[in-house]
Amino acid sequence: MKNPDYDSLISPSRRNLMKFAGVGALGAATASLVACSESASAAGTTAAATTPAIDPNAIAIMSANENPYGPSPMAIEAMSKELNNLNRYAYPLTQAFAAKIAEREGVAVEQVLVTNGSSPILAAFSDYVNVKGGEIVTSAITYEGVPRVAEQAGTKVVYMPLTQDLGYDLEAISAAIGPNTGAVYICNPNNPTGRTIEPAKLKAFIEDASSKVPVFIDEAYMDMADDFPAGVMTEFVAAGKPVIVARTFSKIYAMAGQRLGYGIMPADMAMAMRKTGRLSSVNHLGLVAGMASLDDTVYFDDMRLKMIKGREKLIAMANDLGRPYAPNPQGNFIYMDLGMNNQEFADKMLEKGVKVVGSRWSEKPEWTRICVGLDHEIEKCHAAAKQILTAI
Ligand SMILES: Cc1ncc(COP(=O)(O)O)c(C=O)c1O
Repeated sequence: MKNPDYDSLISPSRRNLMKFAGVGALGAATASLVACSESASAAGTTAAATTPAIDPNAIAIMSANENPYGPSPMAIEAMSKELNNLNRYAYPLTQAFAAKIAEREGVAVEQVLVTNGSSPILAAFSDYVNVKGGEIVTSAITYEGVPRVAEQAGTKVVYMPLTQDLGYDLEAISAAIGPNTGAVYICNPNNPTGRTIEPAKLKAFIEDASSKVPVFIDEAYMDMADDFPAGVMTEFVAAGKPVIVARTFSKIYAMAGQRLGYGIMPADMAMAMRKTGRLSSVNHLGLVAGMASLDDTVYFDDMRLKMIKGREKLIAMANDLGRPYAPNPQGNFIYMDLGMNNQEFADKMLEKGVKVVGSRWSEKPEWTRICVGLDHEIEKCHAAAKQILTAI
């Protein structure tokens, strides 16, 4: 079979980036994947996600902040075309993906670290700080990916309390940065509260804090926030500051089970993390799906709307139940005050076929996080919660 002319399939700017990334002949096949997905997107795509088959009796999983609608059809198609190509390591494809990300984010390809989901970046950052020394300053009631790994390695984590309205207290975090601080971790939107930090305020904070220590911004849910794209903090990485921005394909792109994420950061930091050898290499199908997902802008817009509508339904549920919740949630979840023990609630909900988070953030033993499900799942959750909460 005649080889296609891969070079003619990719744009000049991408060709340069791929050269820069060291993607030569070995990367040719990967270039075809990029080109394939681009031509598919140019030809038009469908907004319909590949939603898994509905079983009304299945447990409604509303505990893991996943996307219940399924990945982009372009991602599914791209993966199915690659099923016979899994015998090789995915290094060239990883390079092509990193080049694509570098181009999108406006950073050098050496600043991109590609991993199986973003969890490995969070853990690698914790290890990085542990080796360099110093404490990590963050907020109470936030995502545990960085602090938990850090504490396990013996790094001290300083948790500043949330504000009254359950937001990050940036002033307090800023004031806590001192000679013993090694890094700062910020999750925006925050998991589990769903609260965001006003972009101008966050920018002023990063400007100041990053002049002292590395600042990690976890943007796992940013693309579903009202602030998107104003809340994206990539510009600091592009400007060469010691800032790390992490993203995942597990949320808006519905690839939690396929695993793909990346971080952008100073090149020397990315190299230090790569050199530990513990990040492993990324899986071929995840990369193929990730590239196709990025090209499927129709899917992205549709998912963004679905996540916004989903959280509105969860808010309506909380209001109907008469339960307080962290205001203005911006991810695909709400954080709700149950007025009863959260583990007891989770156990009772599971008996009724709905899985929600139990005792995870010990500071608030009566609060739980509930994430977006399909419409019938939200209804099931609402009905179950009503029965349980009105019985107390
Ligand atoms: C804020 C935040 N960051 C990172 C992650 C890690 O997700 P993954 O490893 O699937 O990319 C999660 C997962 O829920 C999260 O909520």
